[in-house]
Amino acid sequence: MHGLNYDHNPTILHEVVKAVANEIGGDKVGVRLSPFVDYCDYGDSNPQALAIYMAQFLQWYFIVAGGYDMSEVNNVVGSSGANLVAYGRLFLTNPDLPKRFELDSHFNKVDKNTFYTSDLVVGYTDYPFLENAN
Ligand SMILES: Cc1cc2nc3c(=O)[nH]c(=O)nc-3n(C[C@H](O)[C@H](O)[C@H](O)COP(=O)(O)O)c2cc1C
Repeated sequence: MHGLNYDHNPTILHEVVKAVANEIGGDKVGVRLSPFVDYCDYGDSNPQALAIYMAQFLQWYFIVAGGYDMSEVNNVVGSSGANLVAYGRLFLTNPDLPKRFELDSHFNKVDKNTFYTSDLVVGYTDYPFLENAN
């Protein structure tokens, strides 16, 4: 979305969302925006404005992600306008994350070396459940 002209509708996104919604129903469509990503050719000169603009354009449930843990959820949902908080690494490394939240338990240690590999198991489905954890 680099170079997006805020004076015009984001036509490509609009067209894609419309086409997909027509095929599978609007209630099954979500859009992942990563305005703060800044690597390779990605990046925007004003990511905050871009994020707000896109969120207002979409006017859907607004789910935020990025470095959150259980303690911040109420604050984030209460103050940022977000409807939900999503967990990435925390869920990846703790297959029983809701139970760990409930029990106020420890979390498995993240192994970044297993991120973005072609292995379908190691780092993806082999983190231990609580009863198997040391
Ligand atoms: C191994 C791994 C793979 C990911 N793959 C994707 C992906 O394919 N598409 C995407 O939009 N985000 C992907 N993400 C980013 C997560 O969706 C999330 O935004 C990121 O981990 C930050 O949230 P967290 O702090 O809760 O982990 C990936 C993250 C990890 C760790």
